Amino acid sequence: MPGDVHPLEGAAGTEPAARSGPRHVAIIMDGNGRWAQARGRPRLFGHHAGARRVREIVECCPGLGVKYLTIFAFSTENWKRTQTEVAGLMSLFRRYISKEMNALAERNVRVRFIGDRVRLDEKLKALMDKLERKTEGNDGTQLTIALNYGGRDEVARATKRLARDVAEGRLNPEDVDQETLPRYLDTHVLPDPDLVIRTSGEARISNFLLWQSAYAEYEFIDTLWPDFTSEEMARLCNSFGRRDRRFGAIKT
Ligand code: FPP
Repeated sequence: MPGDVHPLEGAAGTEPAARSGPRHVAIIMDGNGRWAQARGRPRLFGHHAGARRVREIVECCPGLGVKYLTIFAFSTENWKRTQTEVAGLMSLFRRYISKEMNALAERNVRVRFIGDRVRLDEKLKALMDKLERKTEGNDGTQLTIALNYGGRDEVARATKRLARDVAEGRLNPEDVDQETLPRYLDTHVLPDPDLVIRTSGEARISNFLLWQSAYAEYEFIDTLWPDFTSEEMARLCNSFGRRDRRFGAIKT
């Protein structure tokens, strides 16, 4: 927001004014299964409720100054779930993309997918490509959906591409430093996340954005994902603004 006062500044009543909210928020959307079980319903019922939440959270980003939102929809480990749940999730992703395509495009949201697409079905891959193409000119919220994503898998795939560039003479091994690898990651066009939120009370990062989150702040909250509201998102962004991030340096 060039030249603007950050929307979070002074927004917290008697709390000290926020210095700056997170520009990039990444979310591990956990707890759909427990949310459904608590209602005596199948796990997929929880995933559908979780998908409805995604829209509210995407829509609240501009008001919070969050330019980049990255959400963990399906991990490389999630294939181990029952065939019914995996198939239900894949069908939910197809439905979500088809249903939300126009609204996302009209709201100036740019959508990208990260993760390994090879194992995804052709229909889903075609919809992902279509949504990416349809929104590629949008400069509002930059929404990244991690689908068949795993941090270690991403680093392994990036290393393979890097090694190929070395083998084919495009890259000198002496030039490889910590700026080099991120250029090969799925997230190469994104800034690192400032804030990583995990819902549902688990304090784990579960292979999400391993390289990129080296200096992120973490919020592990008890709320189950289908209950996570834009108000809670605002509260977390606000408290981020009052944290003192030093990136390993000392306070001056
Ligand atoms: C974790 O909850 C959630 C998932 C594995 C799927 C995340 C998917 C969504 C929020 C829905 C759709 C997303 C998009 C982008 C349309 P869990 O099943 O592990 O919950 P549990 O820990 O309570 O069992």
